[in-house]
Amino acid sequence: MMASLLLPLALLLSSPFLTSSQCPDFPFLRSDFIASGSFREDRLVGFFTEQYYYDIAQIGASCQTLNVTTSSSSTTTPTISMAFSVKYGPIPFTINEIYSPLTNSPLPGLFNKKVDMPGGKYLTIPTVILDVAEDYSTMSLYSCLELPGENAIKELVIATLDPNPPQETLTKLLNSALALVETLKEEDIKSTTPC
Ligand SMILES: *[C@@H]1O[C@H](CO)[C@@H](O)[C@H](O)[C@H]1NC(C)=O
Repeated sequence: MMASLLLPLALLLSSPFLTSSQCPDFPFLRSDFIASGSFREDRLVGFFTEQYYYDIAQIGASCQTLNVTTSSSSTTTPTISMAFSVKYGPIPFTINEIYSPLTNSPLPGLFNKKVDMPGGKYLTIPTVILDVAEDYSTMSLYSCLELPGENAIKELVIATLDPNPPQETLTKLLNSALALVETLKEEDIKSTTPC
């Protein structure tokens, strides 16, 4: 009896996300839809337009899009790939982001994001899917990586399949992300600049 109660807790506590202090506890950030396990990675496939972000690297950027594809695997949680395209002035470029499910966690919605950086370097950033609309037309992702002796890298992405969704949809998405990640401040979240 005791063991069956403690096991889920032990799994939760062994999650790498809970050891850091600058980053919030990821499992608790997920919407009911994600946490319940209803979310299906392969249904997220599509061409998304980013609407809001928190990401120092995107300051001065415009025209942010995410082409989402997934690995086809019937036995394991699929890996999600996002070709993130952005323009800095007239210069476009694309960064490939790979979201691998955590193999040591039974909790849905938790990934390690591997970013293919210029110069052949890789950066791995723990990422949580905060929420996805039940029709898979919107998604919100939050990433946070603690760095020893430095400020944590924190990122928020809110994206929609509709390139120009109604303001009502945008406001709802923004408020939902702010409610899920209490440490986010509204003034830090930027609207994207259209193409
Ligand atoms: C999205 O990626 C797929 C697979 O690589 C590709 O076939 C498709 O053309 C891309 N879509 C856009 C709009 O770039």
